[in-house]
Amino acid sequence: MRDVAVIGVGLTKFGERWNLGLKELMAEAGLAALEDASISSHDVEMLYGGTMASGRFIGQEHTAALMADQLGFGNIPAVRIENACASGGSALRQGYIAVASGIHDVVVVGGVEKMTDVTSGEASTALGGAGDQEWELFQGITFPGLYALMARRHMFEYGTTEEQMASVSVKNHENACRNEFAQFRKRVSIDDVMGSKMVSDPLKLLDCSPISDGAAAVVLAPLEKAKKYNDTPIKIVASAQASDTLRLADRESLTELKATKIAGQNAYRQAGVTADDIDVVEVHDCFTIAELLAMEDLGFYGKGKAGKAVQEGETALNGRISVNTSGGLKGCGHPVGATGVKQAAEIVWQLRGDAKDRQVNGAEIGMTHNVGGSGATAVVHIYKRAD
Ligand code: COA
Repeated sequence: MRDVAVIGVGLTKFGERWNLGLKELMAEAGLAALEDASISSHDVEMLYGGTMASGRFIGQEHTAALMADQLGFGNIPAVRIENACASGGSALRQGYIAVASGIHDVVVVGGVEKMTDVTSGEASTALGGAGDQEWELFQGITFPGLYALMARRHMFEYGTTEEQMASVSVKNHENACRNEFAQFRKRVSIDDVMGSKMVSDPLKLLDCSPISDGAAAVVLAPLEKAKKYNDTPIKIVASAQASDTLRLADRESLTELKATKIAGQNAYRQAGVTADDIDVVEVHDCFTIAELLAMEDLGFYGKGKAGKAVQEGETALNGRISVNTSGGLKGCGHPVGATGVKQAAEIVWQLRGDAKDRQVNGAEIGMTHNVGGSGATAVVHIYKRAD
C-alpha cells in the first residue's frame, strides 16, 4: 500500500444555485480542484463521483461519465458511487484505495447534488430512499422524523436538552458566517432556534440541515509524487467505513450510531492516534442531534456529555476541539452527494493553514465523518500535514 495525499481541492458555493445545472456545478468545483493541484485534465487517470439521487432530483443518471466528460477527462474510467448522504465520503475512500493500491496515480473524487429544482416534499421523498422504503418511508416517516426519534431517546436517557441541540446550530451558523462557500451566512441565537417552526418534535427548522445545490472535488496522488504538484500535500492517514442496519427499529440502541463507532475506532487504529490528538473535525450534523451523537460515538465525549460541551463552547472555533468549522451541514448546506467531499476540502484548508477567518490555530491532525441515512453507512478519514 502506498501513502496517499490530497493535492488539490475545489468547491462551489452551496445553496440555491438556480442558474447552474448539475454539469456546471461539477465543472466549477472540478476545475477549481485541478487548478489548486496545478494539474491539467490530461493528468487525471480515474474519477469517482458521489451522487445520491440525481435521477429523482433532476432525472439525470450516469453522472460519473457526465462529470468526466464535462471536465475534459477524455476516455478515463469513471464510476459513480451512491451511498446515500455518505456518497461523497464513500467516493473518497474508493479514490484512496485506487491510489494506495498502485493502480492509479492521479485520481479525482467529485461529489455533486442538485436538489432545489423540486419541492421540499419531493426532496424529502427522494432523501427517504436512504432509509428502508418498505418499513420506514412507506409508513410515513421522513428523515427529520427518524432523527427526532433518536433525539427524544437521547433526551430521555441522558437529559440532553433542546437548548443544547440548539447550541449546535448557533455554533455552526457562526462558523458558516466565516465561510464564503456556505449557504447560510447569518448568525442565529438560541431563541431563534427554539422559536423556529417545528419540523418533527423536538427538531425545529433551525435544527435541520437544508436542501441545497452544490459540488466539491479533491485530487489524490501518491504521497511520494505529491510534492511535484503541490508544496503542501495533506496525507490521508486513515480511511475507514462501516455499515449497520438500514432500519432504525432493528438497532440495539437509538442513542449511538454503531457504524460511526466502528469506523472511528478503525480509523484511529490505522492512523495511530486517539480522539485527543484531533485538532479539527467535520462531522455529519444533518440534524443537531446528529452532531452530538457523532461527538460521542467518535470518542470526543462520553455518552450523554456532548450537549453540555457544545453549550459551554468547547467545540467552537479554537475551543477544546474545533467542530464543523465549515459551518457543517447545518450552516454550510447539505447537497447530499457533495457533502463528504466538501468535508475533506475543509480539513485540507485547515491543515494547510488556508482557512482564513475560520482557521484553527496550529491544526495538524484533522478528521472527517460522513453518514448515510440514519447511520447505515459511516465513513471516517483522518488527515495530517505531510511535512
Ligand atoms: N435551516 C435554516 N433555514 C432554512 C432551512 C434550514 N434547514 N430550510 C429552509 N430554510 C429557510 C429557507 O431559506 C426559507 O427562508 P426564506 O423564507 O428567508 O427564503 C425558509 O426557511 C422556508 O424554506 P422552505 O424551503 O419553504 O422550507 P421547508 O419547510 O420546505 O423545508 C426542511 C425545511 C427543514 C423540511 C428542509 O430543509 C429539510 O427537509 N431538511 C432536511 C434535509 C434532509 O433530510 N437531509 C438529509 C439528512 S439525512
